[in-house]
Amino acid sequence: MRYLALPLMLFVLPALPALAMPQFYNTIDGSPLNFDDAMEEGRDTPAVEEFLATGVNIYNENPDVLAKAEEVYNTMCSGCHGHYGEGKIGPGLNDSYWTYPQNETDVGLFSTLYGGATGQMGPMWGSLTLDEMLLSMAWVRHLYTGDPKDAVWLTKEQRETFKPFEPKKK
Ligand code: HEC
Repeated sequence: MRYLALPLMLFVLPALPALAMPQFYNTIDGSPLNFDDAMEEGRDTPAVEEFLATGVNIYNENPDVLAKAEEVYNTMCSGCHGHYGEGKIGPGLNDSYWTYPQNETDVGLFSTLYGGATGQMGPMWGSLTLDEMLLSMAWVRHLYTGDPKDAVWLTKEQRETFKPFEPKKK
């Protein structure tokens, strides 16, 4: 065993960070996504760097950015998905049912935004910066109305305190 340990450490250890990095695939055809076409602006914010390295969206339930997140969603998504993600010409986004199950992870959701799905759900790389994609995603997650236990996209701590979204009473 001693003789195996050293080669294992030499080969396996350097590969670990690469293995942990999330991989992104087009939601429809499964082709790998790189972000070469992404807009220059907003590609290297701390949130984007963290997300591309770990798959964790630090904007989720972050009170400092939720107003901005809502604004991006209302400008770019609500016309088709509804102000509360209840669905219009696009499907509802505020429950735990997904046409494409990968959207229950933020890596999957980001891939759907970046690369698009079918029909009216075109790729967003030409209209949103990577940072704005993370913001719109944070608002989609905030609009969730279901049982927090099923919100697998949140961290365990976030699930414990998450309050299902309720539209403001007029
Ligand atoms: C022009 C209309 C339109 C706009 C704008 C739009 N969508 Fe969509 N979206 C759709 C349609 C239609 C579908 C269904 C496509 C399919 O099933 O392949 C869809 C599908 C989706 C899905 C997959 C849902 C599932 O159940 O798996 C997600 C997630 C999504 N949209 C998020 C967004 C977000 C976030 C934005 C804003 C950044 C956005 N969409 C903007 C029309 C739109």
